[in-house]
Amino acid sequence: MVDSVVFNGSELLLLDQRLLPHKTKIVKCKDEHETATAIKDMVVRGAPAIGITAAYGMALAENPEKAAQVLKAARPTAVDLANAVEYMLNEIRKGADAKKAAVEWHEKIRESTRKISEYGAALLKDGSTVLLHCNAGPLATGAYGTSLGAVLEAGKTKQLMVYVDETRPRFQGALTASELRAAGISHKVIVDSAAGLLLKQGSIDAVMVGADRIVRNGDFANKIGTYPLAVVAKENNVPFYVLAPFSTFDFSIENGDQIKIEQRSEDEVLKIGKQAIYQKGTSAYNPAFDVTPAKYVTAYVSEYGVARGISELQGQFRRG
Ligand code: MRU
Repeated sequence: MVDSVVFNGSELLLLDQRLLPHKTKIVKCKDEHETATAIKDMVVRGAPAIGITAAYGMALAENPEKAAQVLKAARPTAVDLANAVEYMLNEIRKGADAKKAAVEWHEKIRESTRKISEYGAALLKDGSTVLLHCNAGPLATGAYGTSLGAVLEAGKTKQLMVYVDETRPRFQGALTASELRAAGISHKVIVDSAAGLLLKQGSIDAVMVGADRIVRNGDFANKIGTYPLAVVAKENNVPFYVLAPFSTFDFSIENGDQIKIEQRSEDEVLKIGKQAIYQKGTSAYNPAFDVTPAKYVTAYVSEYGVARGISELQGQFRRG
């Protein structure tokens, strides 16, 4: 398994996901400011991975109260970031060793995503064809992965075919394809707009996605393009699964309309790498996430198991 986030006791070593799969480069962070910049610039990405990174960023800070503000401001939608920072603040206020606490957070995510991968894998039959959006594997979680974790786990014993949304504008599909390739799982990349055709044709047995924030009524934010996938999946009776660990839940928010959507630079849309696609003067709108209403979700998969509906999920959480 690739370690996208490594802490050596005095520095944070991040695998630069912007250059993958073609180049391997490590970015070092020695304080909360460098850590926040790495999160903002998407050196590290994926909700659980940015949470783990922020926990280590807190461990590297001299003033944790100030660092918490700096880190939380790095990206607004994925609640794993704020949850990790809050966890660290609480531990530090209680007098815990910050470095140890950050390692513990990482371990908790590792164990949660291991279980999610196993529960999710059990939903896939031998011969299944799965559709994935964005990248929610080991790179995105600093551990096993969520939706891609389930596919990687199932792929150990079952024959699968995976369609990978390329996930414009940042092409996280290239990361997913590289993780599937390394695992020897059959896959094809599609442009995001091809997904509807495949769902309508009956070519997909399950859609699996990760999440950046799941709120009290079960609505959830995930990479832009998730909502239309969920609608078309339901229209065609294709199961739509959302896989996420405890750190992605935000029961302080009632519904998805209250989730803040990160807006990113228009250059992400207007250029591919350094290459301009559009003429000067053309502008772009670039929301990084969308919100999918709970009614489109067939089941949530967390470390507590598979929940067919938000009430069942909340019950699983309460029982711990
Ligand atoms: O902007 P990104 O690449 O950080 O967005 C990532 C996603 O939307 C993932 O689906 C989500 O964080 C879950 S990762 C297990």
